[in-house]
Amino acid sequence: MLVSARSFDEYRAMFALTDDDLGLRVLDCPGGAASFVAEAGARGTDAVAVDPQYGEGRDLLGTLALREIEHKHADVADNAERFVWDWFGGPERYTRLRAASARAFAADLAARPDRYVAGSLPHLPFEDRSFDLVLSSHLLFSYGAQLSEEFHLSALIDLARVARREVRLFPVVLHTSDRRYAALDRLRAELAALGVPSRLDRVDYAFQPGGDEALVLDVRARGPLPTARPGSGAHYPVRWRHLGVPSA
Ligand SMILES: C[S@@+](CC[C@H](N)C(=O)[O-])C[C@H]1O[C@@H](n2cnc3c(N)ncnc32)[C@H](O)[C@@H]1O
Repeated sequence: MLVSARSFDEYRAMFALTDDDLGLRVLDCPGGAASFVAEAGARGTDAVAVDPQYGEGRDLLGTLALREIEHKHADVADNAERFVWDWFGGPERYTRLRAASARAFAADLAARPDRYVAGSLPHLPFEDRSFDLVLSSHLLFSYGAQLSEEFHLSALIDLARVARREVRLFPVVLHTSDRRYAALDRLRAELAALGVPSRLDRVDYAFQPGGDEALVLDVRARGPLPTARPGSGAHYPVRWRHLGVPSA
């Protein structure tokens, strides 16, 4: 599991965010070292991020993410043909924008610590319907080779639980293979049976080939949802490749 640092502009494109969406109360789960909350907050959006990494040692997160981005640059540049460059233009701009995000994240974490809450799916530390809109980038489906289908269902239900209007997830392809998450239709059917219909929206952003779809859950008419069984959490160690060791 990596901690990445996508920007507000990437979030706006990945989740097709409108100005109306940005007037809502928004949760970013997982926030990682992304600058969505920092930049959206500066524009007046009531946004909060949650991530297991926001516990002890979180003050180092921005610096670690920044080193990781620098470390990754050669890898991305050497394997540029594996990625889609329409949005970034090329590896130099990609690395520059990600580094700027990590810096904006670190500055906002120091300035507005209450906006960054420690917590893990599928047991988020929020009341039901706490947020109008919930955004989830590059955890579910992306890590489909590491996280079980049971975890995915529990996590999707918990994201739906804390949302009032919609949950948007991006992408629906695995980061290891660029293939669509195999159990996606089954998970959508299980959510529909719980009163949570969903749709796949094509968006104007892709970094992985074929990775230009967002899953949107409509939670407006949902009834009560089941709670995840204790122990159904999945907490994978974050890999800091520049340090060569996983953090607990
Ligand atoms: C690849 S990063 C994505 C960060 C951010 N959304 C972005 O797009 O830049 C994945 C994040 O998922 C977090 N994570 C791992 N397990 C989690 C869990 N059970 N619940 C919530 N977040 C989790 C990690 O700490 C990491 O920050």
